[in-house]
Amino acid sequence: MTTIDPGPPGALRIAPSILAADFGELAARVHDIDAETDWLHVDVMDGHFVPNVSIGPPVVRSLRPYSTRFFDCHLMMSEPGRYLEAFQKAGANGCTVHVEVGGTATLIKEARALGLRVGLAANPDTPFDKVAPFLGDIDLLLLMTVFPGFGGQSFMADVMPKVVSARREVDEQRLALDIEVDGGIDVTTAPVAVRSGANVLVAGSAIFAAPAPLEAAHALRESARG
Ligand code: DX5
Ligand code: ZN
Repeated sequence: MTTIDPGPPGALRIAPSILAADFGELAARVHDIDAETDWLHVDVMDGHFVPNVSIGPPVVRSLRPYSTRFFDCHLMMSEPGRYLEAFQKAGANGCTVHVEVGGTATLIKEARALGLRVGLAANPDTPFDKVAPFLGDIDLLLLMTVFPGFGGQSFMADVMPKVVSARREVDEQRLALDIEVDGGIDVTTAPVAVRSGANVLVAGSAIFAAPAPLEAAHALRESARG
């Protein structure tokens, strides 16, 4: 597996979501924004956990030689355990599974045993108590700011109290944990999410649908610095 330093937990990171990029030119589009990319966010949709399908391990494998960035794979799948090894072998550095699918403790162990950095995701309507018991066992908490399945949706500001609770808990317990937000992140909403306690910002449309993606990623980073 490619060993790539994810950077210090809690540091601001921009994670462009390739879901919004032209898949026919993926390597070139990823290369265009490399200078402003900390992690590359790979959205995997199985048509079951979410009502949409996207990409899987072969795309991760194809993209791997074109990027030295940390591949942050967001598995929107009902049975992520069946695919963790395939993602790891394809070149994923971190895999995030959804708490709503259950079997969380086992999935965390399996991902860890594969040498993956481990993330746990929660949908907008999933309460903080569902993820709280696992905070000591994971590297990343992904708090969705849209219902997963599609890019280009509007940021749900009502998720921010959950981000605040997560940040408070992480700080109180002194956990080495990243808090990631995903969905509707742009120069207006990024500062809101960062002020609430998020440090990893996933952005698809705001970067890849912009006329100048590299500049858009830079602007996003600047907006998040406040
Ligand atoms: C939603 C995905 C997101 C999505 C973000 O299901 O998990 O990563 O691509 O897209 P934007 O930034 O366009 O909301
Ligand atoms: Zn995502």
